Amino acid sequence: MQEAPIGIFDSGVGGLTVWADIGRLLPAEDTIYLADSAHAPYGEKPPAAIVERSLACTRKLLDLGAKLIVVACNTATTNAISTLRAQFPVPFIGIEPAIKPAALQSDSGTIGVLATRGTLSSALFATTSRSHARGIRLVEQEGKGLVQAIESGKLGAEDLQDTLRELVQPMLDAGVDHLVLGCTHYPFLKPILAEVLPSNVRVVDCGEPVARQTRAVLERENLLSPKTTAGSHLFYSNADPSVMQALLSRLGSTSQARRLDF
Ligand code: DGL
Repeated sequence: MQEAPIGIFDSGVGGLTVWADIGRLLPAEDTIYLADSAHAPYGEKPPAAIVERSLACTRKLLDLGAKLIVVACNTATTNAISTLRAQFPVPFIGIEPAIKPAALQSDSGTIGVLATRGTLSSALFATTSRSHARGIRLVEQEGKGLVQAIESGKLGAEDLQDTLRELVQPMLDAGVDHLVLGCTHYPFLKPILAEVLPSNVRVVDCGEPVARQTRAVLERENLLSPKTTAGSHLFYSNADPSVMQALLSRLGSTSQARRLDF
């Protein structure tokens, strides 16, 4: 089992930002990535549909031999991870908006969270934000349209900067000094955010902590790969894989994105 791949899934291409952090920290591990782009965005689906798609992605990754599953999607984690853990015997690593580190580092006492509707309305988000943001003002904003723009390969579109400007303005008006990216698609927007945000606002995402947690769980479960050579990586999308291919190049990977139905 130690030589089996790590399975990673997301509603689409967003989880590639998490995959990149995992690859940096665990370079010898093999990975299989599933982009459920045919069903993105998850953030606008009812919780039952998010659970159903998360089950389908997990089954596929287990069929492909995964030893551990990284749910590289805040919306799937906050809506489905307890069901996944109850149904499958492998370890699961989830991702949730990084409210805790932002709250601990905030000087203004006000932090912004940009996430999907599915994440912001979930019971798990309500619980974590209550416990981690005590004494902190949380300004929540749904990133309406952002996942769709990234999934359709429109990262370079001129109106995306205007959309982001409009989305972050209420947070800036409220005096946030940290902006938590509560969706794994959003780190692809960092270059645009750098144009839109004043320099005192820090952008926080969760890719690195998820990679560290993945390593800790692999160690604990005695599942770390014994290999010393670079891992191999498979990327599958159940929609047109060309957007994934372009984003992989952006992340410096030469791997091939392939189509697979699941
Ligand atoms: N990357 C997913 C997340 O982290 C996007 C969800 C969606 O498809 O709306 O929430």
